[in-house]
Amino acid sequence: MREDDVMTSAARPGPGGAALLEVDDLTVRYPGAAGNAVEGVSISLQPGETLGLVGESGSGKSSVARSVLGLHESSGSIRFEGVELSSLGRRPMRAVRARLQMIFQDPYGTLDPRMTVGRQIAEPLRVHRVCPPREVPARVGDLLDRVGLDPAMAVRYPHEFSGGQRQRIAIARAIGLSPSLIVCDEPTSALDVSVQAQIIALLQDLQRTTGVAYLFIAHNLGVIREISDRVAVMYRGRIVETGPVDEVFDHPQHPYTQALLRAVLEPDPASRHAPPVPLEFVEPGVEPVTSGRES
Ligand SMILES: Nc1ncnc2c1ncn2[C@@H]1O[C@H](COP(=O)(O)OP(=O)(O)OP(=O)(O)O)[C@@H](O)[C@H]1O
Ligand SMILES: [Mg+2]
Repeated sequence: MREDDVMTSAARPGPGGAALLEVDDLTVRYPGAAGNAVEGVSISLQPGETLGLVGESGSGKSSVARSVLGLHESSGSIRFEGVELSSLGRRPMRAVRARLQMIFQDPYGTLDPRMTVGRQIAEPLRVHRVCPPREVPARVGDLLDRVGLDPAMAVRYPHEFSGGQRQRIAIARAIGLSPSLIVCDEPTSALDVSVQAQIIALLQDLQRTTGVAYLFIAHNLGVIREISDRVAVMYRGRIVETGPVDEVFDHPQHPYTQALLRAVLEPDPASRHAPPVPLEFVEPGVEPVTSGRES
């Protein structure tokens, strides 16, 4: 860990400080689809904070994540570090993307199987000229070390690693440019439970030392509770409840959140689907429940 990476608590804005990410009235519609995949979603994230995004399969979580990353079209406003992303041209967007990174469920989605992991971690460092070219190999070694891998592994290829190690490599690549936000879409869902816990611990550790914020999507509500400061619950493209994670999990206000939490305890997998929520709870005009103090 380098000293300049340490974020002091003074660097964190207090209540009322500028949001790192502000998504307002986000709507996503896929070509040919009957309705909107995401409908009027508003979320915000403070520097150094983790917002968990939960909801059943198809509720629109990845669509929100991909919109924030600018990977597909959406309407509404996405402000990152005070800049409206939709108004940016290609060049400034590239600079922004250095500060806004991602980790997905399948590290193969971000790792090239034909390139050594060292080259892949080095690539963004070179493109963004993070340091003089001769210092890049040392930087790569340092990044591997920070994610708990032997720097000597830089010469190997992705297929030579386990799933957990590959996710560590993806994390090393993501943190190389010192991002202020990492969008994590089910980063641990494909991993064994014990490996899952190690990756979560690594992400928490990196957050403590660098002050990075996470928009964190997972189906596993235990993982969400462990890592999130606040949580937003999605249902059919909308956010139905949001608040501090302990408050929402201990005292869910919205019937869908209650059903989602009940489903986790449900012994019969068949009844975990289609939570019994009357549609009127998520019809337009119904305000999302906000529990507790919101920043
Ligand atoms: N590329 C696409 N083209 C058309 N429809 C899509 C596309 N991607 C997602 N959808 C639809 O948009 C809705 C939201 O999907 P999304 O992938 O955002 O959900 P999710 O909450 O991430 O689900 P999961 O938990 O299964 O990953 C779904 O109805 C899905 O079928
Ligand atoms: Mg998804």
